Amino acid sequence: MKRLNHFFAECTKIVDRQLDALIPSEQTEPSNLHGAIRWSVFAGGKRLRPALLFAVGQTFGAAEKDLGRAAAAIEMIHAYSLIHDDLPAMDDDDLRRGRQTCHVKFGEATAILAGDALQTLAFQTIAEDENLTAKIRVRVVSEIARAAGTPSGMVAGQQLDLEAEGVKISIEDLERIHQNKTGAMISVSAKTGAIIAAADETEIKLISAYAANLGLLFQITDDLLDATQTTEVLGKTAGKDARAEKATYVSLYGLIEARRLAENTHAAVRGELKKIKRETFLLGEIADFILRRKK
Ligand code: IPE
Ligand code: IPE
Ligand code: MG
Ligand code: MG
Ligand code: MG
Repeated sequence: MKRLNHFFAECTKIVDRQLDALIPSEQTEPSNLHGAIRWSVFAGGKRLRPALLFAVGQTFGAAEKDLGRAAAAIEMIHAYSLIHDDLPAMDDDDLRRGRQTCHVKFGEATAILAGDALQTLAFQTIAEDENLTAKIRVRVVSEIARAAGTPSGMVAGQQLDLEAEGVKISIEDLERIHQNKTGAMISVSAKTGAIIAAADETEIKLISAYAANLGLLFQITDDLLDATQTTEVLGKTAGKDARAEKATYVSLYGLIEARRLAENTHAAVRGELKKIKRETFLLGEIADFILRRKK
C-alpha cells in the first residue's frame, strides 16, 4: 500500500496544479462564484478518479503531460456532481469533505451555478487540450458526456436514486442505480486513460469492464461506510442513507451480506484484470484500496 499512497499523493499534486491553473481565481469577477467553486474543489477529496486515469494511462504507456488536463476535467465533473448531490432538493447535506457544503456557505443559487460552471469548464478543458489530437479530444468529450449524463450516466443514476427513496426495489434496479450514478464516471476515468494512451479497442473494452465493476464496488463501499463510519472520518454526515430511506446495498441486504457482496465484486474486478496482458499491479492495488478504504 505504501507504493499506492505515494502514487495517490503524486496524482493529487499534478491534478491540483492543473485545477488551480484552469479555475479562475477568487479575485476574478464574479468572485462569489469562483470562491464557491474553489471552496468545493480544494477541500481535500481523495482524487480517486484522476488517480485511476493516471494509473490506466501509465499502464498503456501514455505520457504524464497528456493525462493531466483530462484528469482535472473529470475531477471538475465529480466536484459538480457532489455540489448538486448535496443540495436541499437532492440529499440535503450540510457537510462535505470536512467542511460546510457549497450551498450552506454560498447559498443555493450560487451552488447550482458553481456546479454548472464546473461542468462546462470540464468540457472546455478537454476541447482546448493541445496535448491531444483533435480525434482523441472528440472521443474523450463524447465518452465523458455519456458517462456524466443520461440515459446511462451519472445524472440518470441520480434521478433513479431519488425516485427510489422509501421504495423497495429489486437488486437489478439497485445495481443499475449504482452503475449509473457512480460506476459510469469511475469507468470513464479509466477508459479515458486508455484512450489517451492510444490503447487498442480490445484493451479499451477490457479496461472498461474492470472499471465498471470497480465503480460498482466503490458505491457498495460508500453505502457500507455511510452505515458504519463516523462523520468525523468521512467528512460527510454518516448515517444519512438510512434516515433518507435510500436504496443501498446495506438497506437491501444488511451489513454482513453487503460486505460479502463487496468482496465478491472485488474478486470480479481482480478477475477482469487478469485478462489484460500488461503490468496491472497498480490497478490491482487500486481495487484493494477501494475494498478496504475507511473513507
Ligand atoms: C463520493 O465520492 C460520491 C460518490 C460517488 C459515492 P468520493 O468518495 O470519491 O468523494 P471525494 O472526492 O473523496 O470527496
Ligand atoms: C452520489 O452518491 C453520487 C454522485 C453522483 C455524487 P451519494 O449521495 O451516496 O454520495 P455521498 O454519500 O453523498 O458522497
Ligand atoms: Mg446522493
Ligand atoms: Mg449524497
Ligand atoms: Mg453515499
